[in-house]
Amino acid sequence: MDTKIIDFYGDIDGHNKCVENIKNNEVVVFPTETVYGIGANALSREGILKIFKVKNRAKDNPLIVHICDPNDISRYAKNVNDYVYKLIDRFWPGPLTIILNKRGIIPNEVTGGMNTVALRMPNHKIALDLIRESGCPIAAPSANISGRPSGTNAKRCFDDLCGKVGFIIDGDQSDIGIESTVIDCTSAYPILLRPGYITVDSIREVIPEACIYDKINEKFVGDNPISPGLKYKHYAPQGDMVILKGNIFSIENYIKDIGSKYKTIGILCIDEHYDFYKSLNKNLNLDLRVIVLGSKYNKLEISRNLFECLRKFDDLRCDFIISECFYEDFSNAVMNRLLKAASYNMISL
Ligand code: TXA
Ligand code: MG
Repeated sequence: MDTKIIDFYGDIDGHNKCVENIKNNEVVVFPTETVYGIGANALSREGILKIFKVKNRAKDNPLIVHICDPNDISRYAKNVNDYVYKLIDRFWPGPLTIILNKRGIIPNEVTGGMNTVALRMPNHKIALDLIRESGCPIAAPSANISGRPSGTNAKRCFDDLCGKVGFIIDGDQSDIGIESTVIDCTSAYPILLRPGYITVDSIREVIPEACIYDKINEKFVGDNPISPGLKYKHYAPQGDMVILKGNIFSIENYIKDIGSKYKTIGILCIDEHYDFYKSLNKNLNLDLRVIVLGSKYNKLEISRNLFECLRKFDDLRCDFIISECFYEDFSNAVMNRLLKAASYNMISL
């Protein structure tokens, strides 16, 4: 299959073909404010099965259904708790996915057989126009091959999905860069299942009883996690990865100890530490590749760059990757993704 990257508002023919594809139960890659998604008509089994196939995704890992109007929740969900409307008022359109009891119109293939459905109204003009013009909700997981870092620009989606999808709609670099916060709203109070840009503290400003699922950052061991996404390998770059919790001097010593074992070592650090690692590179006679995640003063920059940086280490063929520990709070969304990328390999120095 030929894969085209298109400009949604500049290429009228491409635009119409994308809308037609969704209507015809084909998949289309589109941008959102969090990460890119591989979308198909959420009401069509045929379309949904194509998403699982293209992504090589486990069938029991349910998809998020994207809608363009908050009023649509009553079409797809039932027994909606009153507090849900407060969350929607405050956070939609935006990076918050809400788990509700599903109605029969949502195929079981979307929800991995569960009787709940994940709904989100993205804050992105292209995504909203695509949903509206297609006339159906769009189910979409992140646009990457399962296990890889999520795609946050059209080029990275192309790298993973070239030949497997007809169209990738270009929407520049995703603003937020990590996937939406997922919150289970089927109980008397909300439970945060996946951290994202919207934090539990900001949710508590609306619903003070909101809590965090207590196993959110535990390496998965059992069979039945509350959210199936918790049990799969995620975001992994090709080289082995470790998160080092310690100051730059202890990290320097660590690099001196292990450096000779690897050909090319990647370092993921804050902007403020770049010069330090660069000078190490000169002094140690190792092949260190230093990549800056962002400034410690700019949280959005740090989340926006995360997946792109993880993919750069693959471009540089790093066989070992050392990441600084960017936040002390491990329920922080960036740390949650990093821990998964490193298969929970973290060392306190
Ligand atoms: O920002 C995002 O959420 C992006 C963009 C494209 O919207 N999408 C995304 O989808 O990250 P995906 O499939 O990569 O992650 C969906 C997560 C998974 O962890 C899945 O297990 C969870 O949502 N999920 C979906 N439906 C669920 C349900 N009914 N109950 C519990 N967890 C659910
Ligand atoms: Mg994903």
